[in-house]
Amino acid sequence: MVSYGVMVAQQSLNLLVLVRIQVAQILMMNPDFYKFYLEQYGDRWETLLKALLQEGEFSKLKFSSDLEAYYLDPASVFVAETLEVKPGQQVLDMCAAPGGKSLILAKALQGNGSLQLNDRSKERLHRLRRVLDNSLPKSLKSIIQITNFDASRFGLHRKNFFDRILLDAPCSSEQHVLKSPKHLKEWTKSRSKRLAVEQGSLLASAVDALQVKGIVVYSTCALSSLENDAVIHKILKKRKGSLRVILDFPILEGAERTEYGVHILPDRAKGMGPIYCAKLQKI
Ligand SMILES: C[S@@+](CC[C@H](N)C(=O)[O-])C[C@H]1O[C@@H](n2cnc3c(N)ncnc32)[C@H](O)[C@@H]1O
Repeated sequence: MVSYGVMVAQQSLNLLVLVRIQVAQILMMNPDFYKFYLEQYGDRWETLLKALLQEGEFSKLKFSSDLEAYYLDPASVFVAETLEVKPGQQVLDMCAAPGGKSLILAKALQGNGSLQLNDRSKERLHRLRRVLDNSLPKSLKSIIQITNFDASRFGLHRKNFFDRILLDAPCSSEQHVLKSPKHLKEWTKSRSKRLAVEQGSLLASAVDALQVKGIVVYSTCALSSLENDAVIHKILKKRKGSLRVILDFPILEGAERTEYGVHILPDRAKGMGPIYCAKLQKI
């Protein structure tokens, strides 16, 4: 009879072999993808890649016994909490769907203030409505307004208005790319550059829509530094003198401080992430 210890060892070995095969397949399917991140992460890339191919653990959000639980990466919970929303504030979640982080913002407001949940995709807004209906108590829902705008327009139409803005920007989502042969084959370096331009204009819009002393949290699930610290670097130049970077906030175990924010990567943060976030205050 095979002992339990031997079975566990065999399973771990199988997993290792499977991951090695996956890494080799990725290299074959799109060598440019592999090289682009090898240049950024050096010796760490292979370990990080293996961690990205495994499933992480989830935090369970359950607001009451008669509602469905919603499962979210603890790094996403961290991002929403970093915005430090307080009851009574005017809050905007610019790119909200499907709404995991919105649940945390709604809970922090405790039904007092206002919460605008916006997304450009009608289809993803359907999912957001379902998430709110299934998981959020009525008492927290009454202050929510759902909108379907291009978020790059908020800076023009809602100037100096919000106390808090979460910009969870569309990004390269490399972890999803890795799990989809179609997206992996289609990936090019220029995609990350194009997304960085879009993220910059969304962040400029967020900054313009904030009141003085208001706070914006910018986040992505990108590995590419072009979409993370580089976007913050550009906005600090573009809106020179009107922003300060906040760095003194508690971070999760295994998270890494960067020049302007925090990067949570699964190889060092017990499977959490990938998530980047930076916190800026309008002055
Ligand atoms: C990373 S996802 C947001 C995830 C969401 N915050 C959550 O926690 O569930 C990015 C979202 O941005 C939306 N989006 C992309 N471009 C946009 C734009 N210009 N204006 C508004 N939403 C946009 C996408 O439809 C997508 O739902």
